[in-house]
Amino acid sequence: MKALVTGGAGFIGSHLAEALAAKGITVHVIDNLSTGNSQYVPDGAIWHQVDIISKEAEQLILRERPDIVFHQAAQVDVQRSVADPGYDASINIAGTANILQACAKASVKKVVYASSCAVYGDLNVSLIDENHPAQPISFYGISKWAPELYLQVFHQLYGLKYTILRYANVYGPRQTPKGEGGVVAIFFDRIKRGLPLNIFGDGEQTRDFVYVKDVVSANLAAIERGDRQIIHVGTSVPTSINELVFMLRKIHHEKFSVVYTHERAGDIKHSCLNHAKAVSLLNWKPLYDLFQGLYETYQLSKDESV
Ligand SMILES: NC(=O)c1ccc[n+]([C@@H]2O[C@H](COP(=O)([O-])OP(=O)(O)OC[C@H]3O[C@@H](n4cnc5c(N)ncnc54)[C@H](O)[C@@H]3O)[C@@H](O)[C@H]2O)c1
Repeated sequence: MKALVTGGAGFIGSHLAEALAAKGITVHVIDNLSTGNSQYVPDGAIWHQVDIISKEAEQLILRERPDIVFHQAAQVDVQRSVADPGYDASINIAGTANILQACAKASVKKVVYASSCAVYGDLNVSLIDENHPAQPISFYGISKWAPELYLQVFHQLYGLKYTILRYANVYGPRQTPKGEGGVVAIFFDRIKRGLPLNIFGDGEQTRDFVYVKDVVSANLAAIERGDRQIIHVGTSVPTSINELVFMLRKIHHEKFSVVYTHERAGDIKHSCLNHAKAVSLLNWKPLYDLFQGLYETYQLSKDESV
């Protein structure tokens, strides 16, 4: 089997490329290194420094004809999407359309798309399931949602198979302190540098934090399962930012302080994804609870090379 991972030099994409290569699958990686790091591309994967919006990306897919494409590359910074919606859309919507068109032309057997809980906006629902309406409150939320519709139409027009995985807040080693869901990476980074942790609002906002290795195993499960489905990849457990800080205090024994500041535009108050559909359709469940995942991230990030 031949796989292509867009964004494979990034946080989630590099873990996924590594897992695919470990299974003996030939892995090509496309990444323009806008936020990624070429050192994260695993040994054995074939890396192409290519932009997903380029003609080169299309030619590469036509030449290599991968069986499966995991589309992870994206502009992932919510605040940047608010500041520059045109740029965000050019990568997340136009760039994805470019990749999908190439996949249809190259008769790729399946596309697994990394979508986001950001499509829901602020629904004020304690546990969101896949039937809740998408109501984005940031341009990033729109630009992650639009490709889901493109996938459905690409399927109708050209028979392109797909699975849409809507990730909760992913964390783990190699996550940059920038970008969506980066609060764990930001906090670890500030703790390491002896800086206080900034919390926007009262800290009672909740998130569904899912460990990157669990996100990888959901992607692997989607190779054979979940065709034409939208499926949540989360833990179904909400955690407040204050609870997260409490766990970090248990893991990092030295003292650090916390500063509460104003809420930010586009931020969601509560977000937790029901993963029952992933359990039944992908035969998947997360293996890490938050404390285990944080502990492993903390230990592994002491060694910068992981
Ligand atoms: N991290 C999360 O919590 C989270 C949550 C929900 C969804 N997602 C989605 O998961 C995917 C991976 O996110 P991540 O957290 O690993 O982010 P990341 O920034 O670490 O990875 C994205 C990768 O895409 C690359 N990239 C960006 N624009 C590109 C372009 N035009 N051409 C080629 N490569 C490009 C970057 O260089 C980077 O390596 C994204 O699609 C994101 O929207 C992430």
